[in-house]
Amino acid sequence: MQVERVFSFQDELKSDKIEVRIPEIVNPQYGMFTWPAAPVLAQFIWYNRDQIKGKQVVEIGAGTALPGLVASLCGATVILTDKEEYPQCLDNCRKSCLANGQDAIQVVSITWGQFTPNLLNLPKADIILGSDCFYDTKDFDDILATVSFLMEKNFQAKFWSTYQERSSSHSIEDLLKKWELKAIQIPLEDFNANHGNIGGSNLSDLHTIQMLEITHQ
Ligand SMILES: C[S@@+](CC[C@H](N)C(=O)[O-])C[C@H]1O[C@@H](n2cnc3c(N)ncnc32)[C@H](O)[C@@H]1O
Repeated sequence: MQVERVFSFQDELKSDKIEVRIPEIVNPQYGMFTWPAAPVLAQFIWYNRDQIKGKQVVEIGAGTALPGLVASLCGATVILTDKEEYPQCLDNCRKSCLANGQDAIQVVSITWGQFTPNLLNLPKADIILGSDCFYDTKDFDDILATVSFLMEKNFQAKFWSTYQERSSSHSIEDLLKKWELKAIQIPLEDFNANHGNIGGSNLSDLHTIQMLEITHQ
């Protein structure tokens, strides 16, 4: 069943506001609906919108692409990516762009850890986004391989990533060292995301979501 969710982000004075329409399909693959980590990352982008304006942004594992769309609506040049083997998900990503008049956003298939022409041909990214990509430990090394490759093109690039804590054994610390990356955790209260209604999303289990900024060591 196809549905549409609407998220809205505004500043405290309500003078600056955006609305994002996200087409979702209830109940199929992982990337066809918006996970709770996505509004948190979107809120971080909205909060830092002055920083993102005019920047080149690449979102990995974008799914319905709420963070990438917020970045685009805030003036970034955005490329959305998701797994090559999930064409339905990539199509839904394109629908998200059209639903928000963001037709200029490129949607490209990139599977984590695979050094395909699509990855090699990406432009130099300033900001890499990833919402709820760290959910299956078998993928963690591949995700960081892709991120590390993008950062080799731009040592100053930042990987902004939210994840949902599902198990205490899901640590990326050793892999960060392997790929010569470092992470700082950003408290949700620093960007007004410590409440359950970010962007009108009615998140029920917000306390399990963490925000990381990963950079080159
Ligand atoms: C839990 S969903 C999160 C989707 C979206 N970022 C969000 O937060 O709503 C994980 C996303 O990663 C994508 N994905 C899973 N395995 C992948 C892989 N090996 N390479 C690239 N993308 C992958 C899925 O298609 C899905 O869109």
